[in-house]
Amino acid sequence: MTEQDTFVAAIDQGTTSSRCIIFDTAGRIVSVDQQEHRQIFPKPGWVEHDATEIWAKTQSVVAGAMARAGIRREQLRALGITNQRETTLLWDRRTGNPVHNAIVWQDTRTADLINQLGGELGQERFRERTGLPLATYFAGPKLRWLLDNVEGARERAERGELAFGTVDSWLIWNLTGGVDGGKHVTDVTNASRTMLMNIETLEWDQSILDEMGIPAAVLPEIRSSSEVYGEATGQLTGVPVASALGDQQAAVFGQACYDVGEAKCTYGTGSFLLLNTGERAVASQHGLLTTVGYRLGKDRPVYCLEGSIAVTGALVQWLRDQLGIISSAAEIETLASSVEDNGGCYFVPAFSGLFAPYWRSDARGVIAGLTAFVGKGHIARAVLEATAWQTREVVDAMRQDADLDVTELKVDGGMTANNLLMQNQADVLDVPVVRPVIAETTALGAAYAAGLAVGVWSDLAELREKWAADKTWHPAMDAATRNREYGQWKKAVSRTFDWA
Ligand code: G3P
Repeated sequence: MTEQDTFVAAIDQGTTSSRCIIFDTAGRIVSVDQQEHRQIFPKPGWVEHDATEIWAKTQSVVAGAMARAGIRREQLRALGITNQRETTLLWDRRTGNPVHNAIVWQDTRTADLINQLGGELGQERFRERTGLPLATYFAGPKLRWLLDNVEGARERAERGELAFGTVDSWLIWNLTGGVDGGKHVTDVTNASRTMLMNIETLEWDQSILDEMGIPAAVLPEIRSSSEVYGEATGQLTGVPVASALGDQQAAVFGQACYDVGEAKCTYGTGSFLLLNTGERAVASQHGLLTTVGYRLGKDRPVYCLEGSIAVTGALVQWLRDQLGIISSAAEIETLASSVEDNGGCYFVPAFSGLFAPYWRSDARGVIAGLTAFVGKGHIARAVLEATAWQTREVVDAMRQDADLDVTELKVDGGMTANNLLMQNQADVLDVPVVRPVIAETTALGAAYAAGLAVGVWSDLAELREKWAADKTWHPAMDAATRNREYGQWKKAVSRTFDWA
């Protein structure tokens, strides 16, 4: 088989859909298949996924992408995994059945538990050990909720009968054989989102397990982001499963942010801005997370500071599905362009509380500044601006925490197709915003990490060379307008607090 006949596949299991993308050895997309899965909302603030459905759809998109590309499994050199992070699963090792629906990262059911765990130290209780503020977002407290609320789960977990994992673990376990010897592993990037891993040693932290009431027997083994975890079975029999990264870290890797000071923002359901801080785990004092960016085999880990924004693209979806103001996500740009400005209105989408830099689970959404003048177009505009301002707040926090200036922002994800938003983003940040030619950076990052592990590509320099800019938006807003609008935005944010 020649180089031209071989490929690397990536599974991107996200919050709303599962995708498989096949890349050739030049890093170009050969085929894509995608399927959405159900969002289950049992109560306000609760969000679940059916893990069995996710596994079935993952298998189906792998088959779909292979069929579209017309390739056989023997032509796949490696398979990489990237996934929605923090979403928490618990399953029976003997039957392979989940004991409960997966609890999704946006779910706020652990709010009371978080308050209890925080005690006098509040949000800061685990920050030094994990790099994370205590918040409903992370997996550890969600696992604790499952152990406390699913009948018999704690006893079974202690006996070693149950397996915990984020979505990466669930997929790798199933891909590598499931009940017949599936590998129970996770990678450092996903483990760094559990609140159970020590951010310096990169091992499960026994003191946290004790304080949070988690039996070690339930945990996967922590591995690097780029190494062969095992061989796939089933339709991919023999293909090395060779990378795993949380989706935002995979985007860092696919965007070739390999040097200290390089930053990317991915605009999906939420938005996630990560800044490479190199071998230094920078502790945040301004509401950011310290997280592992990636670790290649036995190399030293690369850390990032992250600003996580819970709701950006999801707000456009909400406008479409719950209010019916638009009939497709793309329509928002036309509607927002029908007016000159926001008409004085600001929309803060604190649907799951506010994440970075506030971490307020008591916050709820507001539309502020309404007058009878405000119409659909202004609301559409305020919706887009909400994404840009939330990103600005995160960039401000990065500048304070890392003492690094963000001089350019690499962007990717669905909302980068929205020209108005991207121009607004450059305007409010006052730095250029750049979209690469291959906008599927999440899947690309997982494919790169898998390809590196098996020798398809040799090093980061080779991967960096493949990165190319497609479009750059340059800032064009005057400072007075920017400062005035930012002030109004912050005022609107202050109206969301103390609600829930
Ligand atoms: O931390 C949550 C994040 O990983 C979700 O990403 O793209 O599935 O919304 P996405």
